[in-house]
Amino acid sequence: MRLYALSDLHLGCSENREILAQVPARPDDWLIVAGDVGETAHHLRLAFDLLVPRFRQVLWVPGNHELWTTARDPAALRGVARYQALVDLCRSYGVLTPEDDYPVAAFGGRSMRLAPLFLLYDYSFRPPEIPFDQALDWARASGIECADEILLHPDPYPDRVQWCHARVEATLARLAAGPALPTVLINHFPLHPAAARLPLVPRFSLWCGTLRTADWHLRFGTEVVVYGHLHIRRTHHIDGIRFEEVSLGYPRQWTGRITPDRLLREILPGPAS
Ligand SMILES: [Fe+2]
Ligand SMILES: [Fe+2]
Repeated sequence: MRLYALSDLHLGCSENREILAQVPARPDDWLIVAGDVGETAHHLRLAFDLLVPRFRQVLWVPGNHELWTTARDPAALRGVARYQALVDLCRSYGVLTPEDDYPVAAFGGRSMRLAPLFLLYDYSFRPPEIPFDQALDWARASGIECADEILLHPDPYPDRVQWCHARVEATLARLAAGPALPTVLINHFPLHPAAARLPLVPRFSLWCGTLRTADWHLRFGTEVVVYGHLHIRRTHHIDGIRFEEVSLGYPRQWTGRITPDRLLREILPGPAS
């Protein structure tokens, strides 16, 4: 049995819907969908209608785009209520989410704990000389502001930082509770600032994670970290631990590079297996 991953499907784009429709069926294997499927529940249903029948088990973690409240969403759910509605939708498909017990399964003959996480960001991926209260102005000075500032509401938390910190605290307790097995950490946002480097838009790092998770790859028996959000697909190592950015991204970012047979990223047993 193998573990594959995908993220940032952005199914609002017709080219992305077309390539996803060609994803190969692997009925013996598991699939991680690491967020930014799209902006609506309709996009999530599109993805699960295609993927759930083709894999033994699908796992999902939310991206920032799924949490946007847009005019296209008649329910206009915000924040935690929106997240919970998406979790309920996943459960109707049998898709596992960060709200489920972390599943244990054997890949390549090794038992692994899979930990889907929802941790958000707190603007701490910034240079140390930039104070927190100047961070947004620092990003805006380079012409960058994430649409989350307008569309990703933290209700009932007063802000996204407090939502992030509450998620980190609750998740920490769950991960530390065991069992002591090799673990795959799965989060839309990179867990480590070195995994959040964006050469074209470096100050976008503000919306990419939290320093509170910067040592998580060295704890909890972490075997590999799976993430997306950057739209820079790659395999790299931090402190000897494998990090896999598994995004598709927007058509202008993947056309000519990613073909249907290369859409899936193999996480376990591993790319070389
Ligand atoms: Fe994305
Ligand atoms: Fe994202």
